[in-house]
Amino acid sequence: MPKINSNLLKLKKDYFFNEIEKKVLFKKQNNEKILNLGVGDITQPLAPIVIEAMKRAADEMKDKNTLKGYGPSSGYRFLKQKILDNDYKNFDFEIDEIFISSGMKYSLANISDLFSEKSKVGILDPAYPLYTDANIINGRKQNIVYLPLLEENNFEPLLTDSKLDIIYLCSPNNPTGIAFSKKTLKNWVDYAKKNKSLIIFDGAYEAFITSKDSVKSIYEITGAKDVAIEMRSFSKKAGFTSLRCSYLVIPKNIKTLDNLSINSLWNRYIDTKSGGISYPIQKAAEATYGGEGEAQIQRIISTYMQNTTTLLTGLKKLGYTAYGGIDSPYVWCKCPKSMKSMDFFDHLLEKNIVSIPGIGFGSSGEGFVRFSGFANFETINNALLNLGAL
Ligand SMILES: Cc1ncc(COP(=O)(O)O)c(C=O)c1O
Repeated sequence: MPKINSNLLKLKKDYFFNEIEKKVLFKKQNNEKILNLGVGDITQPLAPIVIEAMKRAADEMKDKNTLKGYGPSSGYRFLKQKILDNDYKNFDFEIDEIFISSGMKYSLANISDLFSEKSKVGILDPAYPLYTDANIINGRKQNIVYLPLLEENNFEPLLTDSKLDIIYLCSPNNPTGIAFSKKTLKNWVDYAKKNKSLIIFDGAYEAFITSKDSVKSIYEITGAKDVAIEMRSFSKKAGFTSLRCSYLVIPKNIKTLDNLSINSLWNRYIDTKSGGISYPIQKAAEATYGGEGEAQIQRIISTYMQNTTTLLTGLKKLGYTAYGGIDSPYVWCKCPKSMKSMDFFDHLLEKNIVSIPGIGFGSSGEGFVRFSGFANFETINNALLNLGAL
């Protein structure tokens, strides 16, 4: 038998969310009515227009004239064109700068395979844990520099003196729920230009942004096209967490230090590693664009944000210090009385409320928990009742 890739041994033993899940399961086994505000998953039904598109696409498979076999590994042209015409209509991208993928998890986890194991990587702290895990698997555990997101800096990442090769930025960030200001993003784009770094911009929650001082796309920042890859997902925007569809924008002009096109490298990589995304799913994603599609999606987003507002207001009324919840459905709540995040999680679980301890997202997440507005309105109301807010 072969030996293990020893980098895998450097990962935390249990994926953090599994540990939380175990505690919640234990509570459930005691027949307690759990109020899950930890969930980062969707709870609203999919838009009818999405379902109809999937059904129509499935019907096409009944007929040999419309039957689809293997699709292009970078995605069908019809979806790429919709993305260009809608999400990037103000930018000058070409169709082969868009890559469809089976969820951002796949793209985020795999993009780091393209780069040298010696690359120095900047990762937000707290952040979505996958960035760290993917880089550990690639042998970069020692090369990670954490960029703390602190209360005194409004949870915005300050520039570092380290010379980073790759920087992961996520705005609005998970778990803080805060969208970075244009000024912060401009600072990082300028930093990347100066240091010849690559920004990997995670826009998983862009659809929730309403603040004027922020941007949905990193390409709204001057110079970003020379240094940034952007990834977006239909998961949270349109409820595709089970369907799996997302996309990357990789400008052709961005090159590695050895002068190789990252766009071509990714093309080569997915040609080997991916069989493309299923046709009915890409048809479903296409249906989210255009008048009716957008209207239906927007209604769902508004529902989540109304729930989030109820949650944020309720927590504040109770005297908690809470952030986020304006440009994303996540609320970043400070633990009372300097409690540790795991202790506050346990305290909330006593009241049947599930949160995510901030420490699970990085050491700077200590002292906070994440609540999610993806929960149902009833769940949020009952949680606030249990906390004594209503
Ligand atoms: C910040 C962030 N990026 C990426 C993802 C993964 O998205 P997808 O469902 O497209 O894999 C998530 C999922 O929760 C996330 O929070």
